[in-house]
This record gives sequence, C-alpha cells and structure tokens, in this order.
Amino acid sequence: MERTFAIIKPNAFAAGNAGKIIARIYSEGFAIIGMKKLWLSKKEAEGFYYVHQERPFFGELTDFMSSGPCIVMVLEADGAIKKWRELMGATNPADAAEGTLRKEFGDSLEANATHGSDAPETAAFEVSYFFSGLELLA
Ligand code: RTP
Ligand code: MG
Repeated sequence: MERTFAIIKPNAFAAGNAGKIIARIYSEGFAIIGMKKLWLSKKEAEGFYYVHQERPFFGELTDFMSSGPCIVMVLEADGAIKKWRELMGATNPADAAEGTLRKEFGDSLEANATHGSDAPETAAFEVSYFFSGLELLA
C-alpha cells in the first residue's frame, strides 16, 4: 500500500463539491487515512508550494490557495500516487479527460479543483507538512 497527499482546492470547496469528490475517492478504492478542513495563510501556501517559488505563477497560485477553505487528505491505495493523479486528470481542466475530477470540477488552470503529490519524495514532504504521525494511525 502507498500513501499520497491530496487537496480539495478552494474553488471546489466553495462550490460545494467536496462531498462529490470524497464519494469518488471512496468509489475508486482509496482509503482516507487523514482528513481536515483548513484555510491556509499566504505563508503556509508559500511553504507548501516552495518548489514553485521561482515560477512566474507562484504569487497567483499562493493567493488562490489561501483565498478560502480547502480540505487536505492522506489517501492510501496500491499505487496511490499515480492512481490519484490519473483520477484528477491533466493540470489544465481544458485538457483533462472525460471522467476526471479536474474535467468535472475544475474552473481554470489555477482553480483546478484538486492537488496530488507527484512522486514518493513529494508525497512524504506534503503529508508531513500537514499531518503528524498521531493523526495518521490506521
Ligand atoms: P498540483 O501540484 O496542484 O497537484 O498540480 P500539478 O502537479 O498538476 O501541476 P504543477 O506543475 O505542480 O503546478 C501547480 C499548480 O500551479 C498552477 N499552475 N499555474 N499559470 C500557469 O502556467 C500555471 N501552471 C501551473 C496550477 O493550479 C497547478 O495545479
Ligand atoms: Mg504539482
């Protein structure tokens, strides 16, 4: 079993789509090991996305991620990292395949509904950024 880190981003939370996304997570066979609602500060969003700090979109990205509440989760499944990215779909909802979360719930490249870790190392950092070991007993 593998764990990955996921976010239901502020646009999807504000639109009332968190429940539908969580239902889909279960129906696709993930276990939810950790889950909480947060409203990230700008500083917290910058720390989370520090790998993108030199990118031109860093300011807008961290403004958006701190614009309202989100839900952070730890998901577990066989091959969870790849499986969750496949369920999310392409970064830009305009390019996302039919049946993916970003196609259904994404509003724009920035407001693309969900986040997922892209590798084991980033999953480990991202899980530990939001959750302690005590919060992930399963
Ligand atoms: P995420 O990290 O949020 O799961 O998304 P991702 O791996 O599919 O995409 P990534 O390259 O890590 O980019 C992180 C987020 O930054 C926004 N973005 N904006 N304006 C732009 O060119 C641009 N490119 C990326 C997206 O919201 C993306 O999810
Ligand atoms: Mg990414």
